[in-house]
Amino acid sequence: LNFLTPKKRSEIVDILVQGLQRMEYRGYDSAGIAIDGSNDIETPHSKVALLRKAGKVSVLSDYIKECSDDLDMDMEYNIHCGIAHTRWATHGSPRDVNSHPHRSNDKNEFLVVHNGIITNYREIKEYLEKKGHKFESETDTEVIAKLAQHIHDRYPDFSFRQLVETVIQQLEGAFALAFKSSRFPGQLVASRRGSPLLVGIKSNSRLQTNHFPVSFSKGRRFMSNHATHLRDETSFVETPNNILDLSIAVRSSNGSAKLEMSDSTTAVRPFDCADWEVEYFVASDAAAIIEHTKQVLFLEDDDVAFVEDGALTIHRISRHADNGEQKREVQLLEMELQEIMKGSYKTYMQKEIFEQPDSVVNTMRGRLLPSGQVVLGGIKEYLPDIKRCRRLIMVACGTSFHSAIACRQILEELSELPVVVELASDFLDRETPIFRDDVCLFISQSGETADTLMALRYCKPRGALTIGVTNTVGSSICRESHCGIHINAGPEIGVASTKAYTSQILSLLMFALTLSDDRISMGTRREEIIDALNNLPNLIREVLQLDEKVHEIAKQIYKEKSLLIMGRGFNFATCLEGALKIKELSYMHCEGIMSGELKHGPLAMVDEFLSICMVICNDNVYKKSLNALQQVVARKGSPIIIADKSVPENDLAGMKHILRVPKTVDCVQNILTVIPLQLLSYHIAELNGANVDRPRNLAKSVTVE
Ligand code: G6P
Repeated sequence: LNFLTPKKRSEIVDILVQGLQRMEYRGYDSAGIAIDGSNDIETPHSKVALLRKAGKVSVLSDYIKECSDDLDMDMEYNIHCGIAHTRWATHGSPRDVNSHPHRSNDKNEFLVVHNGIITNYREIKEYLEKKGHKFESETDTEVIAKLAQHIHDRYPDFSFRQLVETVIQQLEGAFALAFKSSRFPGQLVASRRGSPLLVGIKSNSRLQTNHFPVSFSKGRRFMSNHATHLRDETSFVETPNNILDLSIAVRSSNGSAKLEMSDSTTAVRPFDCADWEVEYFVASDAAAIIEHTKQVLFLEDDDVAFVEDGALTIHRISRHADNGEQKREVQLLEMELQEIMKGSYKTYMQKEIFEQPDSVVNTMRGRLLPSGQVVLGGIKEYLPDIKRCRRLIMVACGTSFHSAIACRQILEELSELPVVVELASDFLDRETPIFRDDVCLFISQSGETADTLMALRYCKPRGALTIGVTNTVGSSICRESHCGIHINAGPEIGVASTKAYTSQILSLLMFALTLSDDRISMGTRREEIIDALNNLPNLIREVLQLDEKVHEIAKQIYKEKSLLIMGRGFNFATCLEGALKIKELSYMHCEGIMSGELKHGPLAMVDEFLSICMVICNDNVYKKSLNALQQVVARKGSPIIIADKSVPENDLAGMKHILRVPKTVDCVQNILTVIPLQLLSYHIAELNGANVDRPRNLAKSVTVE
């Protein structure tokens, strides 16, 4: 929007498509864009071109190339609003017509892109169908575009923003939305509830961060309280004083390019500066916009961002008593573009596996002090409360859940507190009792996983102290928890989590260390762990040298139907995580089991044909691990062994494949034993010709329940 210098339509398309490529890890079933598309000189904004395709972003970009003759790619714009979307299907299969943007009619009057799920869409659809609207897709999103049209037809005097405010008050569920309309050329309205959304601001004068005067004023709200009121047309009445408008005045650092806040219904406009120019980028994730600007403003639930003529206003819909955050700051992101690029690696996943010697350093940087103290700045103030708590509850999904399993034992040992590990979905299903003196950790790479976020929102009102453990600064979990630990692993693009997993373990280990810093009796134990952490990058480098050997093993098993991975104690999490990696990447059935459970069922499957992998380390369960090995060998099983270097040769005599990882202290060992399995899953997937970075049916960030 509002370009610094006029831009050709081809450049606008490039910005949108490139943004989609950066976002593709969130969804890659289908993609689409909507841009001003008319060639009519007299009314250059009167039409909107909509281009949508099932498949990857590259399919869309080929399609755009095919259409380029019709689109007049050289046409120039001073102001332009384009929207784009890459989809991970929830309602409706991946087909062109189910792709976003969705439209209100075949004139493309109102267009919308949506991340999330509208739970009351059937009800709205039924109502709109009765009013004569014809639906073309199976999606929940289409009702939003049609509803906008419907309200516009009834209330033609509504501004674009008022229109969207009315629409979103009818919606239940989760959404991040961006609207474009041929009726409101050059304007954009965006809003969120439950799904992340941010605004990047690129301007010709640098904005001053942390210095954004905020002002509130009562405005007007055009509302109906609930979707059921849709049936009653008269419910769209203007009810003053219900909406709290939060307008933000943006100032440049030299003060010459101030933006003045006027009243709540007028947008913030530049004054004192004729040449103040700005481009806005609205996106679900900073990765989409980082190459354009690092100045970012994170929207909160029920914020409505409105852009017109270079001015940005943020308004709040106060649904109930407004307890939303009343302050917005433009932050300067520290993420570099190259951090999210592939470099010389074949895939992001490969890059991320091999980055682990560095990512663990980043996780520990500044936190392990030479004095032997461990300092986690984000939770420091809360430490006395945490130490006094009744229980520690770790809540997460997927790989993040496995990191909680990996650290449960050491947390129990060092904190001497009961430690509970919960899958976020199950935790919510059970409506688990939570108390004021509980401390709940929400572990999430993205910080946006819907189930984990919902669990946080469940615990907070019950008075628990909430701690976010995420890899994404500014994510919803980060912002909504009382305090937190950034795992600082750097952006992770591959859908299958690797470096974030090892950094999560490390962060939880450091958390355990901070909880025991005043326990003299634990001094020796703490010292041995801290020594191991300091040496960890070197040990990971050593493990990565196994890559070729792992590749050879992969060649022998990649066609198998099934693989059983077993271990126990500190290495049980490695088995779960290794099995998840193999399942999600290569679609091979793979199960991670606790070897203590072998006799209770899985042993029945063991014979000379079943592929098995066993993790055996010289720790407190070593003898028991060897027993399991004997039981497998006695049934003619021939397992691949992952063992630490201190396991005697004799104990592993006769084993065909042994992957030796360096020996470290027991609670850190699982970081080293999981890496060969990350490599194994990578190679099996590659040999099977699967898309390593984007496994079918999965998404990096699951922002729907
Ligand atoms: C998805 C991803 C997994 C991830 C899980 C939890 O399923 O595909 O790789 O472990 O979500 O994500 P989070 O961002 O909360 O760690």
